[in-house]
Amino acid sequence: MKLLEPGEIRDAVENGRPLHMDLSGAGRYETGILVKNLLAVLEATQTRYLAEAVIYILRELVTNGDKANLKRAHFQILGLDPTRVQDYEKGMASFHTALRTRLDEYRAHPAALALQVHVEFQVSQGALTMVVTNPCSLLPQERARIEERLTSAHAAQGLMDSWKKVSDNAEGAGIGLLMVVFMLRNIGVADQACRFHLEPGAPETTVRVTIPLDTVPQALGETLSGRIAEAVESVPPIPDTVRKLRELLDADASFIKVAALIQNDPGLTVSLLKLVNGPLYLLPKRISNITAACSLMGLKGLRTLLLSYGALKAVETRYGRQENLWEHACLCASYARHLAGFLGHPALAEDAHVGGLLHDLGKLVLLDTHPELVRNIERFSLDQGVGGNLLERVALGVSHARIGALMAARWQFPGNIHAAIEFHHRPLVAPAEFQPLCDLVYLANLFCMRHSGDLDFDGAEPSVLARHGIRDETAFHEMGARLEGLFRKQKEKDLLG
Ligand SMILES: [Fe+2]
Ligand SMILES: [Fe+2]
Repeated sequence: MKLLEPGEIRDAVENGRPLHMDLSGAGRYETGILVKNLLAVLEATQTRYLAEAVIYILRELVTNGDKANLKRAHFQILGLDPTRVQDYEKGMASFHTALRTRLDEYRAHPAALALQVHVEFQVSQGALTMVVTNPCSLLPQERARIEERLTSAHAAQGLMDSWKKVSDNAEGAGIGLLMVVFMLRNIGVADQACRFHLEPGAPETTVRVTIPLDTVPQALGETLSGRIAEAVESVPPIPDTVRKLRELLDADASFIKVAALIQNDPGLTVSLLKLVNGPLYLLPKRISNITAACSLMGLKGLRTLLLSYGALKAVETRYGRQENLWEHACLCASYARHLAGFLGHPALAEDAHVGGLLHDLGKLVLLDTHPELVRNIERFSLDQGVGGNLLERVALGVSHARIGALMAARWQFPGNIHAAIEFHHRPLVAPAEFQPLCDLVYLANLFCMRHSGDLDFDGAEPSVLARHGIRDETAFHEMGARLEGLFRKQKEKDLLG
């Protein structure tokens, strides 16, 4: 498996020729290269905005093909014949444990090495077709399960609907398939675009997904459910003082004028003094003069303070203070700020802090409008390793990240903060001009999840890690530990101070 040459991709796209790739497994390295090739194809067809859904679908199909191959290898290693009912049951009883405990051994086994997953991309007649093939014929049990899942997915109105009906997910692929169908629907592609060729006894299993290139993901604003749209519409404005202060700063007013206005707002005064006397400024002695504090912070620092203070005040008046979200926000802000320094973007430290602090604001709205759904999604996403953000979009047509961005737009926040909120789970599709900041907030959030044990190395986007020099699992965990250490120290200092 190798990266395709840009010339080869261009040529294939222009002439409708298929591009072929063979994967020896759905491991991180190989799928990483596969995703890069797919992104290059999307780039060449100016459809990069389809990336998230298309990448998800491809990964899902390749993982299923790989699992089917490993299953055949498992039966061969155990000397069982999967076509015999008794042998099948016996083999399946140990298959999932074997995958968890002996994966490397299985991958290196000649029985598995002989089975590859073949992927083909072809752009022709205005559509991108992805074909995933693995050299195993489907067993009747597998075929029946896939058909049942597809039928129920096609009949279901919404994802939540079908989740409830999926009780048996012993073979994993069921839920993934549901997601593929809903994902296609979500980007506006008809169910028929995903075709499984399930001929019994055929020497291989083939799945073909055709995505018309004029597909336009549903404009998210239009899919907002009534309750969410209303909630976003009624998000309180940022406090008046903050709005006036932002105008003063934009008009280059003197710090004396700015300080006079800040003094009228006790909450803002406390936040400002806490910040300048905190670990960021390392002052020899505490200062309490507001004008001095303002000039110390400078224009950029004050703008940053106003953004976070304004947003938090606005949501607090409406939703109260949600302690667990608040803790996560503070942790993420601290990680994002430090990452800006560690990864060579010191000038972005302030913006990274604000992005980290505000990235999950949209969750407040979702928790308010769909509390049960949020809990289900959280549980499901941890169980199945599917991103919660993606599940929200498939289930509701909108994610907390997008809702947060809509809130930031209502408050007229600058474009970079807006983007950092909107793309904190989707760094691959962030606008190029804001990519560094979006990456920082994305990574900070990942390291927070690592901190709470909800994510391991495999959950991180390889290309984002690579572009910031986090080369392997060791480097990833070292960075995580470093961030945790710094946050702990800062917390101890805060407690003492
Ligand atoms: Fe998030
Ligand atoms: Fe988060």
